[in-house]
Amino acid sequence: MAMRKSLLLLILLFSLELTVESSSWRRKELMSRRGATGITTKLRKYLSSDDGTCKSRVEIFGYPCENHSVTTKDGYMLSLQRIPGGRTGDSSKGNKGPVLLQHGLFMDGFAWLVNSPNQSLGYILADHGYDVWLANGRGTVYSLGHTSLSSSDSAYWDWSWDELAAYDLPATIDYVYQQAGHQKIHYVGHSQGTLTVLASVSEQNLVNRLRSAALLCPIAYLNQIPSLFMHAAARIYLGEQLYWLGIAQLNPTRSAVKTFLETVCLFTGFDCYDLLTLITGKNCCLNSSSVQLFLDHALQSTSTKNIVHLSQTMRSAMLTKYDYDDEAKNMAHYGQKTAPAYNMSRIPNDFPLFMSYGKEDLLADVNDVAHLLEIIDHHNRNNLTVQLLGDYAHMDFIMAENASQLVYQPLMDFFNRY
Ligand SMILES: *[C@@H]1O[C@H](CO)[C@@H](O)[C@H](O)[C@H]1NC(C)=O
Ligand SMILES: *[C@@H]1O[C@H](CO)[C@@H](O)[C@H](O)[C@H]1NC(C)=O
Ligand SMILES: *[C@@H]1O[C@H](CO)[C@@H](O)[C@H](O)[C@H]1NC(C)=O
Ligand SMILES: *[C@@H]1O[C@H](CO)[C@@H](O)[C@H](O)[C@H]1NC(C)=O
Ligand SMILES: *[C@@H]1O[C@H](CO)[C@@H](O)[C@H](O)[C@H]1NC(C)=O
Ligand SMILES: *[C@@H]1O[C@H](CO)[C@@H](O)[C@H](O)[C@H]1NC(C)=O
Repeated sequence: MAMRKSLLLLILLFSLELTVESSSWRRKELMSRRGATGITTKLRKYLSSDDGTCKSRVEIFGYPCENHSVTTKDGYMLSLQRIPGGRTGDSSKGNKGPVLLQHGLFMDGFAWLVNSPNQSLGYILADHGYDVWLANGRGTVYSLGHTSLSSSDSAYWDWSWDELAAYDLPATIDYVYQQAGHQKIHYVGHSQGTLTVLASVSEQNLVNRLRSAALLCPIAYLNQIPSLFMHAAARIYLGEQLYWLGIAQLNPTRSAVKTFLETVCLFTGFDCYDLLTLITGKNCCLNSSSVQLFLDHALQSTSTKNIVHLSQTMRSAMLTKYDYDDEAKNMAHYGQKTAPAYNMSRIPNDFPLFMSYGKEDLLADVNDVAHLLEIIDHHNRNNLTVQLLGDYAHMDFIMAENASQLVYQPLMDFFNRY
């Protein structure tokens, strides 16, 4: 039964690209069928003004907020939001220095602000005296600029998480370092945001700019993922097929994923909460209106090449750069016939690391995290803090109502040591 549902979802995922144009009628039908509740209507209206994260999600709660922009070496113009202090009037917590929050796949900086100010990490850090910076990776709605390419060119979408690690991260971190008066930065990543920092640090980059890194749902190895849906997707080379069809951008508009999810929900009788469960695990502690807000905004585009790269990672026990699956092409890009490996055991031993992961997580699953911990088992114990939460799945780490107490407080205790 579960398998049949997964297959149905896959077929729908395939048809997504083709139905984007014609899907607005379905969406209308869906909305009228479901009878949008007062709260979601209100949220939609409130987001549809699309004023950017500062206006829609930060200033309304009384926090200061600034928009910034940084250009990567390969020309991508990334937006950054800065929350330089706590709620109006509250400066009692002093200056704890800059912290950069890096979102995961299909998300942007908004992901850190989905719950109320007392529950979401973005606000909590600001209220505790941190100078908070929210990164937005290339391809997300506020980071679609490029010095020479348009986001409607397929060349714009010619990147995978290799480039996020090699260009986005160093450019962003360097910018924050300069803006913050040459103070070293604490880093918080979720999911793909952990993979990129681990990859970069394992190549000895960023280390002299970072005070520490906190990894929520750490991802380096993916080949033990237990989700049937994800395995089926990787097995049939879902990403590759879209790539070869010439579709460079997965989810061309930011409402496309949402439309897709709603379409899936409509056709399968799942509600979206269940679909989220199917992919991310059984999240214990989400508030349904926050989930709706997340689905309305936080689902963002990525490149098909990135999905292909992640599928390669899922199918292999090795963590490598993007594999062109062609000796000549690998040779042209890397000077060797095979895709070069990232070697996690080369992460500097005394680099302060905090890892928090959940038993119910289907993406940063316990076996893959255990594999990572084994590979870095020589890491200096005083500079490695690991916590495993029995009830938590992938989304709980950014959206659970009690994440503040269970994850963010220990995370700040960790920061305080460095
Ligand atoms: C911040 O960025 C958003 C999104 O690009 C934009 O709509 C808004 O006008 C910007 N605000 C400021 C103050 O620059
Ligand atoms: C949020 O936290 C602040 C400071 O701890 C507290 O004064 C306030 O009552 C809390 N608000 C809610 C809605 O819980
Ligand atoms: C976190 O919240 C969930 C749901 O509200 C609850 O079931 C769980 O026991 C809480 N965990 C802790 C450790 O308080
Ligand atoms: C969910 O969050 C909203 C907004 O913060 C709040 O008004 C509502 O009471 C919460 N729902 C539950 C069941 O806690
Ligand atoms: C990774 O790096 C370590 C330490 O530099 C080295 O001993 C090991 O052989 C490397 N592993 C691979 C697969 O290259
Ligand atoms: C832990 O990290 C700090 C900061 O990088 C470093 O100064 C310290 O020596 C490390 N501790 C140990 C025991 O290696």
